[in-house]
Amino acid sequence: MPVIAVDGPSASGKGTIARALAGHFDLPYLDTGLLYRAVGLNVARSGKDPDHEADALAACDFPDILLDDPELRSEAIGGLASRVSVHPSVRAALFDRQRNFAAHDGGAVLDGRDIGTVIAPDADAKLFITASPEARATRRFKEMMTKGEKPSFDNMLADIIARDTRDSARAAAPLKPAEDALLLDTSDLTIDAAVQRAIALVSGKLQAAG
Ligand code: DC
Repeated sequence: MPVIAVDGPSASGKGTIARALAGHFDLPYLDTGLLYRAVGLNVARSGKDPDHEADALAACDFPDILLDDPELRSEAIGGLASRVSVHPSVRAALFDRQRNFAAHDGGAVLDGRDIGTVIAPDADAKLFITASPEARATRRFKEMMTKGEKPSFDNMLADIIARDTRDSARAAAPLKPAEDALLLDTSDLTIDAAVQRAIALVSGKLQAAG
C-alpha cells in the first residue's frame, strides 16, 4: 500500500488535499502540523518560552488528548508551532511518531513541511503544494470572516510571509520540495479542482511505479 507525502506552506490547501487523498485511496492520514501545534499550545499553557529549546523540548511530552483541543487550529498556535519547530531536539522528539505512522503496513498519507525530505523520503508519491502568499492570505481572511472574526488582511499577509520565512530558513528540516516531488500551485484553483488535480498527479505517479 502506498505512502503519500504532502508538503507545503500554511494555507496552501495541503491539509484539505491530503485528507481528500486519504479518502480517495482509503489510507490512514496524519496531519503532522498538529503535533507541532500541540507542543506550541503546551509550552504556552505552561507559561514557558517557545524560543527556548529546553522549554520547547519539555513541552513535547504532551498528553494525546491535547491533539483534540480546538484551540490547536488557531492562527496564534500556528505561529507558536512554527517557533517551536525550529529546534532540532523538538523535531527529533516528534520523529518516531511520524516515521512509525509512515511505516504502516496499510500505507499512509502524511502532510507537513518535511515529509518528502525527512520523514518519508521513500514515499511512493510526493506532492509539494504551493500558492502565492496573497492567495493564501485571502483564503485565511475569508475563513476568519465566516467565523465572525474581523481580521486585518495586511496583518494576515504579513503573518503568512513571516511563517514561510521562518519555516524555510531554519537549518533543521526546512520547508522545501523534495527533488522528486510533484509541484501543484493552487493559487488559481478552486479546492475541488485542486483536489482533482492532486488525485490525478498521485494516480499517475503510482501507476508509473507499477
Ligand atoms: O501545517 P501547520 O500550519 O499546522 O503547521 C504549523 C507549524 O508547524 C508550521 O508553521 C511549521 C511546523 N511544522 C513543521 O515544522 N514540520 C511539519 N512536518 C509540520 C509542521
